[in-house]
Amino acid sequence: MSTIAPSVGTSVIQPVAPLRKKMTTTMLRQKKARAEIITMLTAYDYPTALAEDQAGIDCILVGDSLGMVVLGYQNTLPVTMDEMLHHSRAVARGAKLALLIGDMPFMSYQASTESAVRNAGRFLQEGGMEAVKLEGGRERLDAVRAITGAGIPVMGHLGLTPQSVNQLGGFRPQGRSAGAAKRLLEDALLLEEAGCFSLVLESVPARLAELVSRRLSIPTIGIGAGVGCDGQVLVTHDLLGLFDRFTPKFVKKYADFHGEMQRAFSEYIVDVQTRAFPTAQHSVEIEETEWQQLISDLEG
Ligand code: KIV
Repeated sequence: MSTIAPSVGTSVIQPVAPLRKKMTTTMLRQKKARAEIITMLTAYDYPTALAEDQAGIDCILVGDSLGMVVLGYQNTLPVTMDEMLHHSRAVARGAKLALLIGDMPFMSYQASTESAVRNAGRFLQEGGMEAVKLEGGRERLDAVRAITGAGIPVMGHLGLTPQSVNQLGGFRPQGRSAGAAKRLLEDALLLEEAGCFSLVLESVPARLAELVSRRLSIPTIGIGAGVGCDGQVLVTHDLLGLFDRFTPKFVKKYADFHGEMQRAFSEYIVDVQTRAFPTAQHSVEIEETEWQQLISDLEG
């Protein structure tokens, strides 16, 4: 998408970003219709959202993966609405053009359709989000209908749904038997019919994800689901090599920020211990006349 053009009046070649419009759910559908791939990443804070937005990402998900990669929980289950809203607000301050999606945390939509609508509404009213995501298939149709009925766009999430980790028996690929694959396709069609604007497919066979993507008119966003989806998402901390506990097989690491942070911190510690930092360059000075005045005042 980006173009390189010489800027008028200078000899420097500057990248010129094409005028980007604010991303909407309608534009995502149009991208699918034009077979244009959709890009999505997670973000949990202002600087990351700013960088992703400036890089030209289509969608930013404030994922409940927050619980694992930022807050250090073992899984996503302890994440609360208040934690999600706190981080959503920071992301909303950083991103201006990407479509902003808030991930509904565990037990914010499962107990009743009323609580689902109320909590989805909080993402828009208090979190600065423009859509919400929730996990599950046929058992979530009432919640999806109620939330979309309130005018809030909903993204579905099928396959490996981390909030059901205890039911699934671990973080493992889904839809690998003919029966499970058929059920997943049925769930995808039901979610589309219930009003979802898009669907995340996590850790499912690539051939199944491609088939589901072809059968749906709404865009699918894959994570560990092969290249046949209408878009791709990764957890940003995995992509940046910032989450050191484990890296799923489907992640491509584009950087080693954890290693780079450790290097920078070690260098700082040595600099401080050896008094190599701070130098005069990092210090504030007082005018000589003021200094002399102080000394004479103190001596007098
Ligand atoms: O919480 C999250 O980051 C997600 C993505 C993996 C899609 O749900």
